[in-house]
Amino acid sequence: MQERMISSELQEEDTSIELSLRPTTLKQYIGQHKAKSNLGIFIEAAKLRNESLDHVLLYGPPGLGKTTLASIIANEMDVQFRTTSGPAIERAGDLAAILSSLEAGDVLFIDEIHRLPRSVEEILYPAMEDFCLDIVIGSGSSARSVRLDLPPFTLVGATTRAGLLTAPLRDRFGVLSRLEFYETKDLCSIVERTSEIFDVLIQSDAAVEIARRSRGTPRIANRLLKRVRDISQVRGEEEISLATTKSALEMLQVDPAGLDHIDHKFLITIMDGFNGGPVGLDTIAATIGEESQTIEDVYEPFLLQMGFIQRTPRGRQVTPKAYEHFNREVPEA
Ligand code: ADE
Repeated sequence: MQERMISSELQEEDTSIELSLRPTTLKQYIGQHKAKSNLGIFIEAAKLRNESLDHVLLYGPPGLGKTTLASIIANEMDVQFRTTSGPAIERAGDLAAILSSLEAGDVLFIDEIHRLPRSVEEILYPAMEDFCLDIVIGSGSSARSVRLDLPPFTLVGATTRAGLLTAPLRDRFGVLSRLEFYETKDLCSIVERTSEIFDVLIQSDAAVEIARRSRGTPRIANRLLKRVRDISQVRGEEEISLATTKSALEMLQVDPAGLDHIDHKFLITIMDGFNGGPVGLDTIAATIGEESQTIEDVYEPFLLQMGFIQRTPRGRQVTPKAYEHFNREVPEA
């Protein structure tokens, strides 16, 4: 993937600071009102019954707080938070080892759960459904299957799209929760909260500006805030101003709608190379040198939400709104 300022992927420098910015309770968690209120009820009910929480699938574009919510679930349930990811688990034995080390009630978070190898996924079915582990001991004619009991636990899976999961896996989650892009006012509260943690002052119009240009994504809002803070500090400001914020964002090539050079390349390629579309995803991907899956999971959801592109049966099409954004005439059909 190309380097981008507004990437919603986690980057190296982010990890430790991200952790300190993360809210630890549902009450501190800003936005995602629907997911939050549902989870709050399910957590309370599970606690009243003294049971482990049902398995939860969190899905939605990167950077919207799936990992954060998973750790909040563990914290609110007052249990351990264990974390791994689909690509990290290569063999069935790796998952069996993790499962057999769980304690009653623990939350096991599997990020990018759609990337679990199929042979590993099959271990999960009985584990999720009956809290047991079927393992094969020995090989050839002496091989036999042994069933081990597991303590009740909660699997929290995260994926960019629920449709990427196999049906048997998806069906085993009791709670499916879709995370949405954040509203500007929620992102603004997040920018203000993060500023407080950073111990810097920010004018409210500057916070709104960052929020507006963060593609509905807290991870991007926090990253933009860090860069704007750098520039503000170098300029000797006591408080991050709107003027500095605007010039910083211009420097970072983040346009007023939050689009960056890769979004521009994507949209302009369709406009200039394919008369606005429709054009197939793979064709665009090959033209701009990105993977189709990355375009679909990372770039497109926001462009779709903003109404800059449409998905049609014959491919992607740029909308009049996108032409307007670039101050261009809509071409004749
Ligand atoms: N930091 C990042 N995401 C957040 C959220 N949803 N609520 C509060 N702080 C955050």
